[in-house]
Amino acid sequence: MINKPSFFIPLIPQNTSMKKLTFVLIFLLISLQSTGSEKPDWGSTGHRVVGKIAESHLSKKAKNKIDKLLKGQGLAFASTFGDEIKSDPAYDKFYTWHFVNFPFDSKYEESKKDPKGDIVAGINYCIKVLKDEGSSEKDKVFYLKFLIHLVGDLHQPLHVGRAEDKGGNDIKVKWHYKNSNLHRVWDSEMINSWGMSYSELAENAKPLSKAQVQAIEKGNLIDWTYESQALAKMVYASAEMDEKLSYRYSYEHFEQVRTQLQKSGIRLAKILNEIFG
Ligand code: ADE
Ligand code: ZN
Ligand code: ZN
Repeated sequence: MINKPSFFIPLIPQNTSMKKLTFVLIFLLISLQSTGSEKPDWGSTGHRVVGKIAESHLSKKAKNKIDKLLKGQGLAFASTFGDEIKSDPAYDKFYTWHFVNFPFDSKYEESKKDPKGDIVAGINYCIKVLKDEGSSEKDKVFYLKFLIHLVGDLHQPLHVGRAEDKGGNDIKVKWHYKNSNLHRVWDSEMINSWGMSYSELAENAKPLSKAQVQAIEKGNLIDWTYESQALAKMVYASAEMDEKLSYRYSYEHFEQVRTQLQKSGIRLAKILNEIFG
């Protein structure tokens, strides 16, 4: 029998099981398009900016040692490793290392810790492995790449956000008329909409005096965690559930994104100079 042409979707095969499969595939494509696949970090551009900026603040000695471990790969290239391994279930145990949630009116030190670890414990663990002369080369490479990634994450304010909304992932908003969420707006939407490459963003970072760099380097991991958390409060106040965000939001907040990326790069270099310098 000759198949009748499908009226609404002429390209759909006429065989029933093929039809079903095609509808399932179309449905999956539409739902991916509308919710966006979950990519819960700065996004590759943001992480690469951090890596590139850090590179320009490394001591010669640290740079040589890092070059050896990364086989000349560069920090921008290595910076996305922490997200790349997320697709492999073997690395599921590191999932909670990308963020920390503790109540805004409490101290990290006194808060209940996630037994699987958090971003502060994760960064400290990476540093410990890298400082330990007994660590294997393979471990050093793994935890160096992870460290480069995590110091970036720590400076995304919503990675120190509230547990209740998963650091803003549950605050659904529109970004230029498309479905998004507040976390993703800060991870990647503003950066991607700006349309500059990671190297352009790094090259165009604000010129800083030595004293300004030193002021950014001041403090420790916990201080920087509180700084991100204070920014997270501002970010939560900046948008409401279902709000339509676009150019105006970038005009008001992209400078803060750039500042966080720059601080993150400078502080990453400080940590690496202390380990390898
Ligand atoms: N990404 C996924 N879950 C998160 C959370 N609870 N806080 C911050 N970032 C997250
Ligand atoms: Zn994120
Ligand atoms: Zn991450």
